[in-house]
Amino acid sequence: MITGVPAIMRNPPAWLERTVARHGDLVAFPMPSTPVLLVNTPAGARHVLQRNHRNYTKATIQYGSLSLVTGSGLLTSDGEVWRRHRRTLQPAFHHGGLEQVAASTVEAAEQLRAAWDQVPAYTPIDAEAAIMRAMITVVGKTLFADDLADAGEDLVHAVERATRQVIARATSPLAAGPLGRLPTRSARRMRSAVATLDRTTAAIVDRRLSQPLTSSDPDLLSMLLRAAGHGQEPQEPWMSDQEVRDELVTLVIAGHETVASSLVWTLHLLAGSPGVQERLYAELDQVLAGERPQWQHVPQLTYTRAVIDEALRLFPPAWVITRRSSGPDTIDGVEVPAGTLVIVSPWLLHRSAKSWPDPLRFDPGRFLGAGPGEGDRHPSYLPFGAGPRLCIGRDFALLESVLLLASLLRDRAVRRPAGAREPVVEALVTLRPKNGLPLALIPRR
Ligand code: HEM
Repeated sequence: MITGVPAIMRNPPAWLERTVARHGDLVAFPMPSTPVLLVNTPAGARHVLQRNHRNYTKATIQYGSLSLVTGSGLLTSDGEVWRRHRRTLQPAFHHGGLEQVAASTVEAAEQLRAAWDQVPAYTPIDAEAAIMRAMITVVGKTLFADDLADAGEDLVHAVERATRQVIARATSPLAAGPLGRLPTRSARRMRSAVATLDRTTAAIVDRRLSQPLTSSDPDLLSMLLRAAGHGQEPQEPWMSDQEVRDELVTLVIAGHETVASSLVWTLHLLAGSPGVQERLYAELDQVLAGERPQWQHVPQLTYTRAVIDEALRLFPPAWVITRRSSGPDTIDGVEVPAGTLVIVSPWLLHRSAKSWPDPLRFDPGRFLGAGPGEGDRHPSYLPFGAGPRLCIGRDFALLESVLLLASLLRDRAVRRPAGAREPVVEALVTLRPKNGLPLALIPRR
């Protein structure tokens, strides 16, 4: 049992590291209102997320705070509601959708390249802001069949404002209690950000409904709207318009910042590793021969994929995953009463010397064993979670990441600007470089 919880608010990942270093891999916290258990063994994490998942729900502070923004979407819902929504949305993420994702990603990457062409070589650019905008465009095109235009920018900003308030609530005991309902400045900011999200998603829905909605439209928004009874061939609606809104907001939040975060850290790690860059460029030159990457190239881009896998290990965008136990359980020999808040941290598991030799070294070679996907078999590798709540967008995310990286670096190298400091990791809904990430892209030839 330990004390000193408020330090979690200052730098949560560092606090988690100190906690397991001092107290071991299964740490019970003496919280007055609810038992809390930090689970940092691979077997314990898999037990909670996979093997005994039926005993665990998302009724946690993390997801409760997020649901103030997303409502009851796939990320935050449980039970029958979750199951029905997952079944409805799943087909939009199947193989057929991936080709569209690939095309939209390469198009967004080409726009990014064109914008960066205007910047003189060696001039630092804020890679984070630009990649965030690129990824929201991809979400719009692939999931909502909408190019979003200016709405993309509004969404990025509204999500940014709303999720900062979510984190403030999730890490502040006061905000999570009755005081959190006071009309403070933070509450006002949250309301205004949610209002922007509502307005923007309503406009996306209106645009879609202004055109015929047939039973064969495969995009996710069309699937949701049909489930809400808006199709041309009427069906008994089983989803409300509010539920459609909640899923849209969920996908905007879950679908762009995560991928952008992983790419930004990938570029950062590459910029500090000339050896890895050389090997990556050899693969890109061989497979792409200077041309734009396409969907067909992806299976050959094995080292590129390993670079992404390794960056997701060192900087897992979803750095913490929480659950609440519904009944009593035993995790790795520790008794867990019903109602326990269980914390699993991919950040900790991915950086543990017990699971990874020389854990802080950026070494994509770790993932080259049996080909892409090797990491999925490593018990301590959970960037996309595990079990039935595994990320629905995993294949999209990996495809987007490989193609964006290949597009951006097919003829350029990435450098840290002279005198740039090591970025400070800010643990928000995803891991972000505090104050952005200045990088320089220079021609390779
Ligand atoms: C769930 C990570 C990209 C949509 C999750 C979970 C993780 C995760 C760890 C499980 C959370 C839990 O068990 O509590 C990531 C990472 C991504 C990424 C690291 C990028 C590198 C995406 C994309 C989309 C997406 C591109 C959508 C287009 C979702 C949704 C869920 C989810 C809807 C909830 C699934 C469910 O519970 O049924 N993600 N994600 N994610 N993700 Fe992702």
